Amino acid sequence: MKHAPRPNGYRDAWCGQLTADRADTEASVAGWVHRRRDHGGLIFIDLRDRSGIVQLVFHPENAPEAHERAHALRAEDVISVTGRVTRRDPKNVNPNLATGEIELAASRLEILADAETPPFPVDNGSDVDEIIRLRHRSLDLRRAELQRTIAMRHRIVATMREILNDRDFLEIETPYLTRSTPEGARDYLVPARIQPGSFYALPQSPQLFKQLLMIGGMERYYQVARCFRDEDTRADRQPEFTQLDVEMAFVEQDDVIDCMEAVMGAVFEREGYAVAPPPWPRMTFAEAVSRYGIDRPDTRFGLELHDLADALSGTEFKVFADALGSGGVVRGINAGPRELPRSDLEALTELAKQHGAKGLVWAFVQEEGWRSPIAKFLAEPEMAAINAKLDATPGDLLLIVADELTTVGQALSALRLEVARRFDLIPAGRHDILWVVDFPAFFWDADAQRWDAAHHPFTSPSGDLGDPANLTSEAYDLVLDGAEIGGGSIRINRIEVQQRVFELLGIGPEEAQGRFGFLLDALRYGAPPHGGIAMGVDRIVTALAGVESIRDTIAFPKAASGADPLTGAPAPVDASQMRELGLRPA
Ligand code: AMO
Ligand code: AMP
Repeated sequence: MKHAPRPNGYRDAWCGQLTADRADTEASVAGWVHRRRDHGGLIFIDLRDRSGIVQLVFHPENAPEAHERAHALRAEDVISVTGRVTRRDPKNVNPNLATGEIELAASRLEILADAETPPFPVDNGSDVDEIIRLRHRSLDLRRAELQRTIAMRHRIVATMREILNDRDFLEIETPYLTRSTPEGARDYLVPARIQPGSFYALPQSPQLFKQLLMIGGMERYYQVARCFRDEDTRADRQPEFTQLDVEMAFVEQDDVIDCMEAVMGAVFEREGYAVAPPPWPRMTFAEAVSRYGIDRPDTRFGLELHDLADALSGTEFKVFADALGSGGVVRGINAGPRELPRSDLEALTELAKQHGAKGLVWAFVQEEGWRSPIAKFLAEPEMAAINAKLDATPGDLLLIVADELTTVGQALSALRLEVARRFDLIPAGRHDILWVVDFPAFFWDADAQRWDAAHHPFTSPSGDLGDPANLTSEAYDLVLDGAEIGGGSIRINRIEVQQRVFELLGIGPEEAQGRFGFLLDALRYGAPPHGGIAMGVDRIVTALAGVESIRDTIAFPKAASGADPLTGAPAPVDASQMRELGLRPA
């Protein structure tokens, strides 16, 4: 804490800042009873506020009245105490505590509020069921980990603001009650009383507004913006989450990347997070997918994917032959010298299937041939050729998947991570950051039988719009240890291009005018070239704080179910409220 509290009836000092230089002075502190110990006549209380902990001591002779009342104190009672800062006996010094050289010999004790027995201990990090923690979030927030993480989150966002403010950005708010922005998730809708049957949508991101701000001549915008996406919650996803949202006019991809490297470089440096200083490496989408099977590669360990088609031309093993014959691929990883029981191999097969694969070939390389359920289906030279492709030596475990390209990538990238986790292949303390660039502009959605935007429909495609499969876009993602922590693109600033992209995506002129007419109208009156990015603040804090779940970085998160155990939201509403909104009960 930089400032001592203004002296008042409760306190004049922070608990965690009473150190030996205050010895032999009077001080008042206030906070929560962290722990109480009765030692014969003496009562010791660890008192906690946000700054830390100080030990109070109550003497029966020196302060009989305070001592008497201290007897009744229980964990989490709220008290204010005045006393004399006294040096501890050298043998009683606690080197683990900033205030461990002193204690406060209490002369006055005021109990400001009693606490019932808390449903879980606040004074240690013991594992508590998450639903209980969320239900009693105000108690959970008192615990050391959340105190630390929430303070770090504040510092990270303050650094982001500082660097952008320095670079002439304006922080501008955009509406939460608005129309749908397509970021690929389901919208949260808010029924409109003023127009029964109509709805506002909560923004999936401020994408269109920040483009309008550029068209509006604001040049450089940022916002710490809440985004709402009705999708299944996961360890790295929340239905409402926070972006550092940025947009700049008259910029190229390198300008946005350079700006974000300045912001994130400062964040990492100030938080002492061990990533290399910027500029950060860039990898094309094509390289990421071919080497790692995924557009957010974790490059901290090897186990790269290799294509095995060359080794299998003319194979008679049906699984491989069928995949290759129907335009698919056969790829594999060398998991290294491993011994795994059957049950673990089955678990890996299950994992591959969860990611869409129809099966998994596993093989242990031996001096002669393979130990594998499919060894009998492959010719000796085929196994030798695969060994060569995967640089395999006897003892190595090979994992191979055959399917269409995306499925193989998804399955093998998941297997890669699982093998790395099981065998502890990620070097402790190592962090890799990189940009993934040169994304395809569109991909073919086979289920819907139409083209879909790889980033979003406002991303500028480069190349011939008549050949969507081969268009790239100036889109870029920032990837930290295999997690996508940010993404953005250069946008379309010409109405005819935007209209053609809508057409290509199967959004007809009428629908385009209906949903995005306000953007198209703005594009008619001189839109500067512009581009930007959005950083996932919650994910960044998750990484830097080293916490397991995104929920541990948010003061009041939703549970894994998407509901809020604290307030009970979502909850039914009165029939009268429904009527007012023109809604019928379900
Ligand atoms: P995008 O959808 O890639 O881009 O989101 C940007 C970043 O936000 C984070 N993120 C999430 N974090 C937590 N929970 C979620 N459900 C969630 N979804 C996304 C990720 C991601 O990289 N408008 C564009 C940005 C732009 O083009 O400028 C957008 O929203 O870290
Ligand atoms: P099957 O012919 O279905 O009995 O499969 C023979 C072996 O190949 C089994 O070990 C399967 O797990 C595996 N397998 C099946 N389909 C695939 C696939 N698409 N990719 C990799 N392995 C597969």
